[in-house]
Amino acid sequence: MSGARRLGPAPDPATLDPMECASIDELRAWQLDRLKSTLRRVWDNVPYYRAKFEAHGVHPDDLRSLDDLAKFPFTTKQDLRATYPFGLFAVPREDIVRIHASSGTTGKPTIVGYTRRDIDIWSEVVARSIRASGGRPGMIVHVAYGYGLFTGGLGAHYGAERLGCTVVPVSGGMTERQVLLIEDLKPDIIMVTPSYMLAILDEFHRRGKDPRACSLSIGIFGAEPWTEAMRREIEDSFDMHAVDIYGLSEIIGPGVANECVETKDGLHVWEDHFYPEIIDPETGKVLPEGSFGELVLTTLTKEGMPVVRYRTRDLTRLLPGTARPSMRRIEKIRGRSDDMLIVRGVNLFPSQIEEQILATDGLAPHYELRVTREGRLDTLTVRVEAAPKAASHEARRILEERLAHHIKSVIGLTCAVEVVEPGAIERSTGKAKRIVDLRPKD
Ligand code: DLL
Repeated sequence: MSGARRLGPAPDPATLDPMECASIDELRAWQLDRLKSTLRRVWDNVPYYRAKFEAHGVHPDDLRSLDDLAKFPFTTKQDLRATYPFGLFAVPREDIVRIHASSGTTGKPTIVGYTRRDIDIWSEVVARSIRASGGRPGMIVHVAYGYGLFTGGLGAHYGAERLGCTVVPVSGGMTERQVLLIEDLKPDIIMVTPSYMLAILDEFHRRGKDPRACSLSIGIFGAEPWTEAMRREIEDSFDMHAVDIYGLSEIIGPGVANECVETKDGLHVWEDHFYPEIIDPETGKVLPEGSFGELVLTTLTKEGMPVVRYRTRDLTRLLPGTARPSMRRIEKIRGRSDDMLIVRGVNLFPSQIEEQILATDGLAPHYELRVTREGRLDTLTVRVEAAPKAASHEARRILEERLAHHIKSVIGLTCAVEVVEPGAIERSTGKAKRIVDLRPKD
């Protein structure tokens, strides 16, 4: 693992969108104007929102400053379920040109809809994200996010086309073919979940090919939490830039926020389209800038399904802009509040275990966390693969002790560790499922 951070070239300022270069005052004035029209739009066109606002005792005219947004009620996944499938649309259904859905694994999916203009804006923010990652017109982009109801594939696709790239719409899965196409078409950029990128890496090794020699110079990774340690692992393995892209279907899909390759210091929220707040997940109170909490997003330009104060469940902090000075950044998402495990009184995110795994020489970055309950006590078992060089029984037993010790000393948690043979952990072709919860449902 190399220690130095690799940074890429900043784009020519002449190629940026005008709003990327706006002053903070210009941006705040635009946001206030757009917020007013969003609130008015949902009040006038979405009976569910009007009823919610009335029950909360607020009216769109109550928003006179950006801070007044805190007076308005949150939107949650429950609201999307309650209005399934089309109840939050603010335009006649015929004006919706595209449907996507969230990747929820339980119950009905939550449906989102886009007008032609929404698709246009979405393409623009993804194009902006690819450019921020170092992408330029003319580059070849291999899209290995899934195509379909999931927003990853089509979102990346339209954005890459908008930037003027050549898109290879591979979708997820068929890993051998992914490698074949990378070898033959020589893409500059890959857009894929970080966990599936590791499966592609395995396939390079399986074929005896050197991933560092392949054409890829930029990876744009998101749709799931990943750590700085994982960034280094991928950057070193492929000799590429690994850049973080964030988004969620309820808001638009990928392209809500993206890192800039020249700083790689958190993700700039494209604030001319999405207004961020950080709240205390327990009390719902807005927290001062810089505090750690739950990200809440309001769409500023969406027509088909505008969303007011959506509780993302994603935990992060808001920081001032750097590479794009007027646009605030979110720190790399630490995890989702629903993915936080409380084991023996210790609050834990999978990302904390990931960091310890990647810091342990001899372990591969493929893992899952099993939670079981014995009596009243929850037990965590970290199942992680040995790297091929440490696959012997003996070596794995030593690694088990070493990792358990790291976790105990850094995180303060006693857990069981099982180091398994290379290939024993199921690979994801999209979002990895890190937590296997075997506790009885109460
Ligand atoms: O995952 C959209 C997307 C596609 C983003 C491709 C980036 C790349 P959903 O399926 O609705 O949409 O899931 C959204 O995924 O609330 C986060 O919990 C998680 N997530 C998305 N991007 C990141 C990221 C897409 N960069 C949910 N880091 C979000 C951490 C992420 N978590």
